[in-house]
Amino acid sequence: MSANEVVTEGVEALTLTNGKDGSGDDMVATGVEVVVQDDDIVNPWSVTSSTDAGVDYDKLIKRFGSSKIDEELIARFEKITGKPAHHFIKRGIFFSHRDLHSILTLKEQGKPFYMYTGRGPSSESLHLGHLIPFIMSKWLQETFDVPLVIQLTDDEKTLWKDLTVEAAIKLSRENAKDIIAMGFDLDKTFIFNNLNFMGSCPALYQNVIRVQKCVTFNQVKGIFGFGDSDIIGKIGFPAVQAAPALSSTFPFIFGKNKVHCLIPCAIDQDPYFRMTRDVAPRLGYPKCALLHSSFFPALQGAKSKMSGSEQNSAIFLIDTPKQIKNKINKYAFSGGRTTIEEHRTYGGNPDIDVAFQLLKFFLEDDVQLEQVRVSYSKGELLTGELKKLAIETITPIVERHQAARKLVTEELVDKYMEIRPLKFAK
Ligand code: TYM
Repeated sequence: MSANEVVTEGVEALTLTNGKDGSGDDMVATGVEVVVQDDDIVNPWSVTSSTDAGVDYDKLIKRFGSSKIDEELIARFEKITGKPAHHFIKRGIFFSHRDLHSILTLKEQGKPFYMYTGRGPSSESLHLGHLIPFIMSKWLQETFDVPLVIQLTDDEKTLWKDLTVEAAIKLSRENAKDIIAMGFDLDKTFIFNNLNFMGSCPALYQNVIRVQKCVTFNQVKGIFGFGDSDIIGKIGFPAVQAAPALSSTFPFIFGKNKVHCLIPCAIDQDPYFRMTRDVAPRLGYPKCALLHSSFFPALQGAKSKMSGSEQNSAIFLIDTPKQIKNKINKYAFSGGRTTIEEHRTYGGNPDIDVAFQLLKFFLEDDVQLEQVRVSYSKGELLTGELKKLAIETITPIVERHQAARKLVTEELVDKYMEIRPLKFAK
């Protein structure tokens, strides 16, 4: 472990309230609500940046004490898996990690590990941004051939949103259908919602308590910015998101083995896992590894992330082709110039253009993407044409998803959520 990691990762370090984070950034400290001089805010509840280009991810890596995914890591990944890296990795969409080298070493040695990701069911349908970690998880699961557990935090959404327990459980099931429609391997994937699983699997609650015993109120205040008037459910919740990173939470899959865990997620979830990584060795477990993605921007621009709570910021997986077209045409922030003449002369800026960002995430053809980037930058391609291309790329993806989701029956959901062993090399 590097000295930097010790300084920035430990729970105690995160509770520092008035100093530097080891990277030189001045922090106004309320844990993850840290505000650096450039005003980027990244935490599980809010992502905002003061610039049109969005969050400064290099600075964030320093602030969070994670590591950049560099060429050397990508080369090692490709060598060990024998497969070209996913375009999310090659394009820097997944840009940061913790301990991915250790996971690659396990793969190299043929030793087992598992993957864990999740979703907080706050709306009936996922949006395009939510797809990012799930697409990555599916690809990694196929590449590594490992089990995957998916946590639906309906308890979290009940505590944070205006949602009853019953409504949150219902949303969990609806969201599970979106996730299943992505084609995860039933033999290797277990999906659970906390509000039901907690009652059927004592191991989850037992690990939640073990984690809660290791973290003080002061520490969660420092990490998550909780205050004295926050409800007590919020204060205890981080342990519930931490527990699935301890393999004994799933005795029916891993028995008593202490198996390594890899978590793909957007970097807003990192505070939960900084806490988890601090606690795990004290409980005799390996620290979970992480793969962090950047944020899919709001349609209005990269100053904020695409979010389910802002209806017009997002393209939902239930949107019709007409809604997708209207949303992109009406809201997608343009990096183009004010007049066609100016655009032809000076060119557009793909880095801040949301239609281009949509393509960067979803247009798989590297050559075509580069052609679009160059011709938009030169002013040959106009904003309207770029938006048309984005609409033509996104619409079939959403339509295919909707067709797949229609085939997901209640019985199939039950199968994915059934407590059972998964198939993997032990
Ligand atoms: P939630 O439901 O907010 O988000 C689900 C996953 O999607 C990521 N995400 C995004 N990624 C890219 N661009 C965006 N605009 C965007 N918005 C959200 C999130 O980082 C997350 O990976 N508390 C969690 C649920 C959870 C979880 C986990 C997530 C429980 N255990 C383990 C990841 C890993 C939540 O509310 O996620």
